[in-house]
Amino acid sequence: MSQLQDNFGRRFHYLRMSVTDVCNFKCSYCLPDGYHPTGKQHFLSLSEIENLVSAFSQVGTQKIRITGGEPTLRKDFTDIVRIVSDNPSIHTVATTTNGYRLAQHAKEWFDAGLRRINVSVDSLDPKMFYQITGENKFDEVMRGIDAALTAGFERVKVNAVLLKGMNDKDLPRFLNWIKNTPIDLRFIELMETGLGRDYFQAHHLAGADIKAQLQSQGWSLDIADIDDGPAQNFSHPDYRGRIGLIMPYAKNFCATCNRLRVSAKGKLHLCLFTESGLELRDLLQHPDQQAELIERLHAQLAQKKETHYLHQGITGVTQHLASIGG
Ligand code: 5AD
Ligand code: SF4
Repeated sequence: MSQLQDNFGRRFHYLRMSVTDVCNFKCSYCLPDGYHPTGKQHFLSLSEIENLVSAFSQVGTQKIRITGGEPTLRKDFTDIVRIVSDNPSIHTVATTTNGYRLAQHAKEWFDAGLRRINVSVDSLDPKMFYQITGENKFDEVMRGIDAALTAGFERVKVNAVLLKGMNDKDLPRFLNWIKNTPIDLRFIELMETGLGRDYFQAHHLAGADIKAQLQSQGWSLDIADIDDGPAQNFSHPDYRGRIGLIMPYAKNFCATCNRLRVSAKGKLHLCLFTESGLELRDLLQHPDQQAELIERLHAQLAQKKETHYLHQGITGVTQHLASIGG
């Protein structure tokens, strides 16, 4: 088996596979005006997904996260989970969701083989939750998290993008929540996207500030595991939950990059913020094309850059993360 590797010695055993661009939330940092289809909406079919998963599994992919948009809006989401989990090389099937269908479907997805769930909860205050996401679904999402823990998910991760002047006052509430609940909280530093400078400058909160606050309250940085990826993880003896900080502007953030992305229309993205995506879809049509597809993946990896160019304000073509799954 030939493991995907780039020119900087990084190996890629984690694939984030988007299955739709559509989302039903209107997060102010992502889709403030909601989702509007552009052009023909023709997302990867189940057989294209099967061919994609099969090729990646042959080049060392062990973990696949099903993303969107909101991936659970796909009527065949459970079938997608099953396709991924049926592949013996894929040890971990994960998804990132806004959680609005979780309460109803957690058990069904678990039974289909889903093992990791990241739910976006940007505030524990229902009013602020509404202000950020444009949806009054706080209670539903929280019920979903409970349902996931009951359904057998060992760990539920909760993502929150911390925003200056919005949910930045929520830190104590978040900490209180994970005192006795086995939640892995991930605080994500706002990344600049095609939304533009103004929003970013108004709401960006430096990850280093949050880190300093945590450390002053007794949270300590865990020793990084080689498979952790770019998050910095913290734990505290008095808390059942843990905290991860995702600080894309931090020095060396990209050094531990372990992931590749495929868009819902079958384009390979070597980085969240660089190019417009490299076409794979023509080689997803038939299982006979696997060798050619694998050859193309190897060739593309040689193009992967060492880091993103966010510091220079270059956000790439990514208008919003709903188009590529964060
Ligand atoms: N900056 C940081 N995180 C973002 N997400 C979406 N857009 C941005 C952004 N501009 C996050 C969502 C979700 C994950 C998939 O990506 O909150 O948790
Ligand atoms: Fe939808 Fe996620 Fe974007 Fe929010 S961040 S609008 S839930 S895709």
